[in-house]
Amino acid sequence: MTEVPEELRSKLCLALDVDDMVQAVRLGKELSPWFGVAKVGLELFTAAGTDAIGTLHGLGFDVFLDLKMYDIPTTVEKASRVLGALGVSYATYHAQGGVDVLKAGADGLRTGAANAGLPEPCPLAITVLTSDADAPDHIMPKRVLTAAEAGMGGIVCSVDQVKEARHYAPRMVAVTPGIRSEGGETHDQARVATPKVAIEAGSDLLVVGRAVTLADDKAAAAGAIVDGILS
Ligand code: C5P
Repeated sequence: MTEVPEELRSKLCLALDVDDMVQAVRLGKELSPWFGVAKVGLELFTAAGTDAIGTLHGLGFDVFLDLKMYDIPTTVEKASRVLGALGVSYATYHAQGGVDVLKAGADGLRTGAANAGLPEPCPLAITVLTSDADAPDHIMPKRVLTAAEAGMGGIVCSVDQVKEARHYAPRMVAVTPGIRSEGGETHDQARVATPKVAIEAGSDLLVVGRAVTLADDKAAAAGAIVDGILS
């Protein structure tokens, strides 16, 4: 097995898009040598709740809680405080909600972590959902600027949007889903990129899901992702 440098491992996020914690733990245990971050989405969170966060910490992961929050600012702020205190490293908010919603989320997340004596987490803005067929092309820059104004730590976008996003917000952490090894199945992802292209484009965190979790040999698929970057 290729030794994964810690700096690279911390940039690789495993999307645990499953509906029970037993399966999530099984995947996490097998794949933690390659992935430093585990993403809990709506599906797993609905099934397992906040227990998922502590369990994944116990397996050595930083936790990315992908709930894509969008509610009134007070509600978002209070929920985010809880997540910050639970040690969530990344949490997502819809930039569509505007500056006040994002700011409430970012403040709540950071305050919750600070009050619990934990390292500063990174609030992330979702720019545009790939499924949003009505979103006009020019909405991306607007959403990035909204995220920057609100003090978000980063944005979620496709690999081909990283350069443009950086133009508007140079210091934002760029998180990119849609990662596929060369020639891999794209599933429902509209815009995919190889891990190497993602790193070269300036992505800070590569979200990898089905390319690894649905593979017959998951360890080999994870190894191929790393080898694709290191080669
Ligand atoms: O496609 P893959 O299984 O690698 O997806 C990993 C993550 O990418 C998912 O957890 C989801 O949050 C995100 N995703 C996305 N756009 C899609 C499908 C999934 O951004 N069309």
